[in-house]
Amino acid sequence: MIIGIPKEIKNNESRVGITPAGVFELVKNNHTVYVQSNAGDGSGFFNNDYLKAGAIILDTIVEVYSMSDMIVKVKEPIAEEYDLIQEGQILFTFFHFASSEPLTKAMIKSKAICIAYETVEDEEGTLPLLTPMSEVAGRLAIQQGAKYLEKPVKGRGVLLGGVPGVAPGKVLVLGAGVVGIQAAKMAAGLGAHVTIMDINMKRLRYVNDVMPPHVVTEFSNEFNIRKHIKTHDLIIGGVLLKGAKAPNLITRDMLKEMRPGTVIVDVAVDQGGCVETTRPTTHEDPVYIIDDVVHYSVANMPGAVPYTSTIALTNVTLPYALKLANMGWEAACEKDACLKKGLNIISGKIVYDEIIRAFGWEKTLV
Ligand SMILES: NC(=O)c1ccc[n+]([C@@H]2O[C@H](COP(=O)([O-])OP(=O)(O)OC[C@H]3O[C@@H](n4cnc5c(N)ncnc54)[C@H](O)[C@@H]3O)[C@@H](O)[C@H]2O)c1
Repeated sequence: MIIGIPKEIKNNESRVGITPAGVFELVKNNHTVYVQSNAGDGSGFFNNDYLKAGAIILDTIVEVYSMSDMIVKVKEPIAEEYDLIQEGQILFTFFHFASSEPLTKAMIKSKAICIAYETVEDEEGTLPLLTPMSEVAGRLAIQQGAKYLEKPVKGRGVLLGGVPGVAPGKVLVLGAGVVGIQAAKMAAGLGAHVTIMDINMKRLRYVNDVMPPHVVTEFSNEFNIRKHIKTHDLIIGGVLLKGAKAPNLITRDMLKEMRPGTVIVDVAVDQGGCVETTRPTTHEDPVYIIDDVVHYSVANMPGAVPYTSTIALTNVTLPYALKLANMGWEAACEKDACLKKGLNIISGKIVYDEIIRAFGWEKTLV
């Protein structure tokens, strides 16, 4: 198969759909890989690295789309790319169709085969191509939180690890899922005192088993949250209710109970956030302050560390890309039920019901 890797042109996206290691693997399996010139620069992978791995470098995005059977990328195609997509071409990338009607209509019109990373689902119902991004965001949340606790950026002026003779900082983690556990682990590694909360006892039991004793689990309810926000320096929001808006566990009135300079990193911002005062921010302008509480709520946190994020993402997407290349999409999806769940639009027809529901469309019309 001929596989094309275009440069991401969405604003501020520095990741790339494949690493040189991925190219090497595909070429080893007798596939041809076209990489657009400088596509990997933002992630620290340069043309020469791809050439050495066996790729062919093409100058323009037009060539990559027009010469490839399958496009592997990171973000959904943006308007400038719509007309480049070929009928019958496989697009393997993040789409998030339910959040964009124009994108959905454009992909129906293109008659491409759209396989979405975010809906590939394993037997346990987890989303293996989303997990690495939550891992990155969870770990990064502590790094960012520690920075914004510094006084010059209006934080409390607390060093999370403390020093001999001074108690460490306190971190409250809401949600003991992928984000929460990675955040707790990083905070514990810095020497901070960590309280982690969830409503799922299985998760709390697991955390209790694997974390050191200065990570304390507590059941999540309003009473306990109100108690802890008064004494914790950094609060991480990592809750998720599948397919729904995140619950507001911290309401506006609670900010007054916190000490000035407390920092909230609401990772769940992409699902509306678990703090009432959360609104999405960007890497250019990541924080704002309400009632002396610093809010960090960047909607695409992994974008800050594209080198790590690209490798983490392609580690999990490559095995599926290889299957698609080796067998073709029909046989690959037939053989692999997890990958099949990624099929969203096939040759102009929506095959993922949530998209139809999201727009209130009649099934017969699409
Ligand atoms: N901002 C970013 O860049 C970024 C990056 C990755 C993930 N995310 C978001 O982070 C959030 C968490 O993702 P995840 O992968 O860790 O999800 P996850 O499903 O692994 O974990 C969510 C946890 O929240 C718990 N929970 C639900 N209701 C709760 C409550 N009332 N109190 C406490 N815990 C509760 C669940 O039991 C679960 O353990 C999601 O909204 C995800 O989209 C954001």
